[in-house]
Parts: sequence; structure tokens; C-alpha cells
Amino acid sequence: MITIALSKGRIFEETLPLLKAAGICVLDDPDTSRKLILQTNHSDVRVLVVRATDVPTYVQYGGADMGITGKDTLLEHGCQGLYQPIDLHIAKCRISVAVRSDFDYVKAVKQGSRLTVATKYVSISREFFASKGVHVDLIKLYGSMELAPLVGMADAIVDLVSTGNTLKANHLTEVECIMDISSRLIVNQAALKLKQAPIRRIMDALELAVGT
Ligand code: PRP
Repeated sequence: MITIALSKGRIFEETLPLLKAAGICVLDDPDTSRKLILQTNHSDVRVLVVRATDVPTYVQYGGADMGITGKDTLLEHGCQGLYQPIDLHIAKCRISVAVRSDFDYVKAVKQGSRLTVATKYVSISREFFASKGVHVDLIKLYGSMELAPLVGMADAIVDLVSTGNTLKANHLTEVECIMDISSRLIVNQAALKLKQAPIRRIMDALELAVGT
């Protein structure tokens, strides 16, 4: 049995065509079904529906043999025990710093001000601001980061930006891109040794589907 961990939403939707090109069709729809283990057209391939931030954990501890996760999630989680063979070039976006439109970020950085930054990406933010020599106090949030500058809780946020619509709707301005993000295939290193042939078959088919 090969178990693949996926999260609902954009990654799931953009993964389905790649799996299909690899000959794997998921038979249940996670939006209408409450099932957490989804069957596929292969009796020996199944899909787990887990939270996006839990995908690396399931793969690391062997709950799943492989998974698909954003580079952002992977960097926050750490890569212990995970093999990352393929950038699938899906769920593309960027991780950026954003501030209230009336906050002069460039001036604050130039003056060496200490910034309060709200984010769920604490590791990425810590490393980024340290590399710039900017002192920051980080506030860990789990969502709706855009609110923090609006209610005076933070000077800036670090969050994913795709279309930019969420920032715009909340009168925030993107002031710096930290890195581009896309989703990666991750594989449990022990599973790769024990189930080498079926895992390699899926990896090769995905690679072909991505066109790399
Ligand atoms: C992400 C991100 C932003 C939004 C950006 O949230 O946290 O809020 O998408 O997209 P946009 O630039 O196209 O507006 P998501 O909807 O994934 O939910 P989350 O708050 O759980 O991260």
C-alpha cells in the first residue's frame, strides 16, 4: 500500500491533474465527503486528507509514504527524514512582508527601528529579518494575519501573497518579497527504501506530468 498525504484546497485541486496524469484517480471528493482516507482507482494507493501544516509530520513519522506540501510549510516544519525529489510547480505564490499603507517601512528599516511582526511563519521571518540585520519581535498567529497591523498589534506581517487581493481589501501594502513558493513532493526516506519500486513509479510519473 502506498499512502499519499494531501491537504484540502488549492494544493489538492492542483495535485489532482498531476495524479491523474500519473494514472491515479482519487475516487472521493474531500469537499463533499467526511472521509479522511480516500480510495483511488488503484487498490494499493490511498490518499490521506490532513491539515496543510501536518503533511510533513505525517510523512516524517511514516503515517504517509509521500505527501505534497508548500515550500513555506516545509521550511517552517524542518526537513528531517524527508526526501524532496520534485518541485511540482503548483500552488505558486510568494511569501512577503506587508504593512499598513501609511507605515513607512523603508524609513523604519533604515532608522534601525525595532519592528513588531505578526506571522504564522516564525522561522522564515526570524531568518529573513536576521539576514537583513533588522531587530524584530515576532507574534505568532495561526491565520488572518492581515488584522494585526489594522488593530495596532503589529507594524508588519509576513504572509503568503497570491493575487494580492487580500492585502488590497485590508489596505495593506506588500513592501518586500521574501521568497517564491510552490509545492513539493516529499517522501519518507525509509519508505523509499522499503517500497522503492512503487514509489519510484509514482515519482517518475509525476516528474513526467510536471514536465521536468
Ligand atoms: C492565504 C494567505 C492570504 C491569502 C493571500 O490565505 O494567508 O490571506 O491567501 O491570497 P491573495 O493574495 O490571492 O489574496 P488562505 O486563504 O490560504 O487561508 P489561511 O488564512 O488559512 O492561510
